[in-house]
Amino acid sequence: MAPTIASLVTPGPILDGVGHSIRHVSEMRDYFADSASVDAIVGAGDREVYAFWEIEYQGLGNGLSYGMTTVQPGKVGREFHMTKGHYHTTEGDEIYICLEGQGVVILRNRAGDVKECEMRPGLLIYIDAGWGHRTVNTGTTPLVFVSVWAPGIEHDYETVRREGYPSILDAEE
Ligand SMILES: [Fe+2]
Repeated sequence: MAPTIASLVTPGPILDGVGHSIRHVSEMRDYFADSASVDAIVGAGDREVYAFWEIEYQGLGNGLSYGMTTVQPGKVGREFHMTKGHYHTTEGDEIYICLEGQGVVILRNRAGDVKECEMRPGLLIYIDAGWGHRTVNTGTTPLVFVSVWAPGIEHDYETVRREGYPSILDAEE
C-alpha cells in the first residue's frame, strides 16, 4: 500500500520533507540467514522487502516525527520478510499502529530479553526506547503500519547487522 502522504503531512516549515526508502533483498544480505536464497533472489532480478516514508520534525518545540512502512509478503529461505531492525541510541520512544496485514514486532533489549507483539489492523504497539524493534510480515498480504517517534532519535542498525537479531521462520518447510 502506498501511503496517502497528503493525509499524513501537515505542510509547514517545521517539516523537513518526506523521505522515501526501499529495501531490496540485495541490501539485506547481512540480515537474512540463508545466503544461498539471497543469491538466488538477487540473481533472478531482486525484489523489494519493505519500503518506508518518514517525516522528521525539525522544529524547536515538542513535535513528533512520523512515517509509514509497508513490508511485502514473502520469505527468504525460511525467514519471513522483515525490516532490518534497529535500536535507538538516544532516549525516545515510538509507537506503531498497524493498518493492514498480519505480522509480529520483535522487541529485544540490550540484555538479550526478547518479546513478540502481534500486529494486526487496529493494534497499537508502544516501544520503549530501551528495546530494539524488527517487524516481520507473517501473512500473505502487505503489512502496513504507521510509526510515530520522538524527534532526534539516532538509529543503530549496525548492532543488529553485527550481532544478529531474532527473526521468524516458516514452520511449514
Ligand atoms: Fe525505531
